[in-house]
Amino acid sequence: MHSKILILDFGSQVTQLIARRVRDAGVFSEVYPYDIGDDFIRSYGAAGIILSGGPNSVIEGDTPRAPQAVFEAGVPVLGICYGMQTMAAQLGGKVENGKIREFGYAEVRARGHTALLNGINDFVTQEGHGMLKVWMSHGDKVIDMPPGFKLMASTDNCPVAGMADEERKFYAVQFHPEVTHTVQGEAILGRFVHEICGCKSDWNMPDYISEAVEKIRAQVGSDEVILGLSGGVDSSVAAALIHRAIGDQLTCVFVDHGLLRLDEGKMVMDMFGKNLGVKVLHIDATDQFMGHLAGVTDPEQKRKIIGREFVEVFQREAGKLSKAKWLAQGTIYPDVIESAGKGKKGHTIKSHHNVGGLPETLNLKLLEPLRELFKDEVRKLGVALGLPHEMVYRHPFPGPGLGVRILGEVKKEYADLLRRADAIFIEELRKTVDEEGKSWYDKTSQAFAVFLPVKSVGVMGDGRTYEYVVALRAVQTLDFMTAHWAHLPHDLLGRVSNRIINEVRGLNRVVYDISGKPPATIEWE
Ligand code: XMP
Repeated sequence: MHSKILILDFGSQVTQLIARRVRDAGVFSEVYPYDIGDDFIRSYGAAGIILSGGPNSVIEGDTPRAPQAVFEAGVPVLGICYGMQTMAAQLGGKVENGKIREFGYAEVRARGHTALLNGINDFVTQEGHGMLKVWMSHGDKVIDMPPGFKLMASTDNCPVAGMADEERKFYAVQFHPEVTHTVQGEAILGRFVHEICGCKSDWNMPDYISEAVEKIRAQVGSDEVILGLSGGVDSSVAAALIHRAIGDQLTCVFVDHGLLRLDEGKMVMDMFGKNLGVKVLHIDATDQFMGHLAGVTDPEQKRKIIGREFVEVFQREAGKLSKAKWLAQGTIYPDVIESAGKGKKGHTIKSHHNVGGLPETLNLKLLEPLRELFKDEVRKLGVALGLPHEMVYRHPFPGPGLGVRILGEVKKEYADLLRRADAIFIEELRKTVDEEGKSWYDKTSQAFAVFLPVKSVGVMGDGRTYEYVVALRAVQTLDFMTAHWAHLPHDLLGRVSNRIINEVRGLNRVVYDISGKPPATIEWE
């Protein structure tokens, strides 16, 4: 049995990042709510406990506190931000409402040569002080350390930016080591789990799979589960994982709305049906979707129709699987944050259609085994589960599919032309590699063709043509919130254009989109 770190969540937006960093250090960790109770803490068997940040103030009466058992478990404890403040307050120190809020970049001086920070710094000042570049976000601050603690870090604004009771192995930092802006954050959390808690790097993807499989089995028992498979990375990895756990108790429903990429249906059926032996129902609902989309040109309206029909088809098929008690979804951690933030966010730029909205109407329990993972972890998991690298590292594809890449009214004829142009573009991006062997497909975050329902004049052979236009779009981005257009080599663009015009009858012009996001979005609708 490997050692484990218990993370108690006080409601910070970035708590899962702590878990993520601990996993990156090769150590198993789990996140539980701060009020999980003393008995749980006593029986959990953690090698160390981390208290997360949170939005509250410890000096306002009835705000969250760590269970007393945390400080009596005899294991190292690391408090982060609110976690530090509650530690201070609970152990006899004093917290005050800071006059100046501190938010963002800060330089912290490490002090006291503690086991946590010793030798870790970003630079050393002329006076010889080791300094850390960190990310801070707090209003309150500790002004008196509890008995037994010594100073571990400070800034001008925040004299107690870190404190430690090395006897009891209690450490606390006001800054956030879990975010990447804290340059040495990974080193600090690694130091805590490895050296202070004594955990080995003994947790890896195969272990994760066996734990996740056990969890799914325990949750589901002998019930049946259905999953809406889109062919995207998240639902595919969820399907492979759940299938590993419960085999034929899982049925996947793959709804083909007629707006998929070239050969996508076949690829999904081959991969899951033939190679992995997963039960997949392939529902060809092209006519239903095209029928409802006929005559509709407004992008949001199109999205709503596609979302609504998707639910309708899924519900109809699910109704036939009368024994299913669970609906599985490939929700990943960033989706969880995004939906938690809804309502705060101002107006909708585009309504994103996912398989959301299904649970209430279907009366099924939700199974979301990827809820705690980040995208790159999901990809590693997919590879470890035997999904092909090419599939797992695919660019994202929106739920409404080509429906938002055919401007204005969606017609089957347009979708057929677009599918072929898009496939040529992707094929050339995959084929064109740099000196290091990296393809332009891997160097871009998302690339696709867009169908423009306007005709322009061309000349082919001796004849005049009057045909449709496609635009090529390729972007580079880390978070898809902002993006740069990709500077694709001109000869690559030239090849793609030639091939599209020569091979796809009905298209005679190709243009390249050179708009960034903002002000443009990645998709055209
Ligand atoms: P935009 O176009 O808003 O896209 O810059 C950002 C990312 O989101 C994807 N996207 C969608 N995904 N349903 C989805 O599941 C949608 O309706 C949708 N619209 C955009 C887009 O492909 C890009 O990766």
